[in-house]
Amino acid sequence: MPEATCSKIEFFSGEKVPLEMHKVRMVQRVDLPHIDDRLAAVAAAGNNTFLLRNRDVFLDMLTDSGVNAMSENQYAAMMIADDSYAGSETFYRLEATLKEIFGIKYFLPAHQGRACENILATALVTPGSTAITNYHFTTTKAHINRLGGQVYEAFGPEALNTVSDNPFKGDMDLDLLAAKVAELGPEKISFVRLEAGTNLIGGQPVSLANMRRVSAFCREKKLLLVFDASLLADNLYFIKTREKNEMERSLADIVREIGSLMDLSYFSARKLGCARGGGLVTASETLYKKLRGLVPLFEGFLTYGGMSVREMEALNVGLRETLDLHVISQTPIFVAALGQTLTEKGVPVVTPFGGLGCHIDAGRFVDHLPQDKYPAAALAAAVYLASGVRGMERGTLSEARNPDGTEQHAHMELVRLALPKRVFTLSHVKFVADRLAWLHSHRRLIGGLVFEEEPDILRFFFGRLRPDSDWQQKLAAQFRADMPSGF
Ligand code: F0G
Repeated sequence: MPEATCSKIEFFSGEKVPLEMHKVRMVQRVDLPHIDDRLAAVAAAGNNTFLLRNRDVFLDMLTDSGVNAMSENQYAAMMIADDSYAGSETFYRLEATLKEIFGIKYFLPAHQGRACENILATALVTPGSTAITNYHFTTTKAHINRLGGQVYEAFGPEALNTVSDNPFKGDMDLDLLAAKVAELGPEKISFVRLEAGTNLIGGQPVSLANMRRVSAFCREKKLLLVFDASLLADNLYFIKTREKNEMERSLADIVREIGSLMDLSYFSARKLGCARGGGLVTASETLYKKLRGLVPLFEGFLTYGGMSVREMEALNVGLRETLDLHVISQTPIFVAALGQTLTEKGVPVVTPFGGLGCHIDAGRFVDHLPQDKYPAAALAAAVYLASGVRGMERGTLSEARNPDGTEQHAHMELVRLALPKRVFTLSHVKFVADRLAWLHSHRRLIGGLVFEEEPDILRFFFGRLRPDSDWQQKLAAQFRADMPSGF
């Protein structure tokens, strides 16, 4: 009998509804603060959504990291965790699952994704070396730069188009990769890095066909191929539903092939596996031994790597659930529902709709703001004012300045409204779309931001900014006029 996946269930009315293939058995109360309180909260947070307190947030769409809903089986598994410094059975259970899923031999645990990046960069990056990637991620790049390495991005011609129908904008451009390797010579390249579901360009997937080509090239040139599998769940869904030759294959089969194409894969288990933690997996004994010593140095002993054993048990189950189309379809179909509604209301959104969240194109939304005024950060603050929804800036603020102090303008100015797995409902999505449509109709009221306090490293996490005029008071006044209740 065919399985009734949510993508196959149709509504008689023809309406496209993202259908939840789960039921809710535990809830957390949320409140929508009054516009006056939102105005005070955004100022107290230095206009940085990372610095808002949860009590001031209605719908937390900052990230899916560590906040995906867990299944009953994940919670149940936490009760059987084997707590011990060394030799925990929990570790061996998790290791066995990873070996089976990725078809590899070795697993190194770490406390989260960036810890894996630290280990990887510490072991492989030398001053003056270059890592070639389909697109950088903030913390990955920071670790590589910290060790004197550079990052080169070999993305395809469509990758940065916010309006596109290319189903795999995360694909690496083989010509650019080959040209860079020819220019620098393989000995100057620390590794080639493919990121699943490219975070910073709108959660855009990489095709399996592209992974095969990149892998073949790296093997021919004897280059190390590293895979960031943090966003693998969404990427898998897109391979299964968009890549013609792969639609009939099982998810387990696809992941095993991916594992065989990479020299090393690492992941944030705050995303992949819906728990909290991270890890690196490889089939190579040499690589394993090269990285192994750094785990006890930075993370913890080899059988926990900084993770709580309870989280490791939850991860063990969560990884297996990643091979269930019901589970991994939830985020992409909700992202598409939000993206479609916003598009119909005229709000500019990155297309095709990707994974992780809905990406608002601040470049078009507030096209009157220059990049030096941090348009995506200003829009994220305005979205909070309009809705109590917390999104994340993914634009120039998330870049580091150039060595001469000038701004490194981001390729894209995006506000990401993350949809953590199985957390929000359709009425939440409708509320967000409604408030964004309101904000879009008053977008010319949105002004820029200037730094008040600018940290040297990863400034987007805790930098503080202020509005460059009284635009937030004017936006709030308009809100009170249109929504007299103030909510
Ligand atoms: N790689 C990717 C592709 C990520 O998206 C993240 C985290 C990391 C690595 C680092 O993992 O947070 O466990 O240390 N992304 C989060 C986000 C922070 O909200 O997009 P971590």
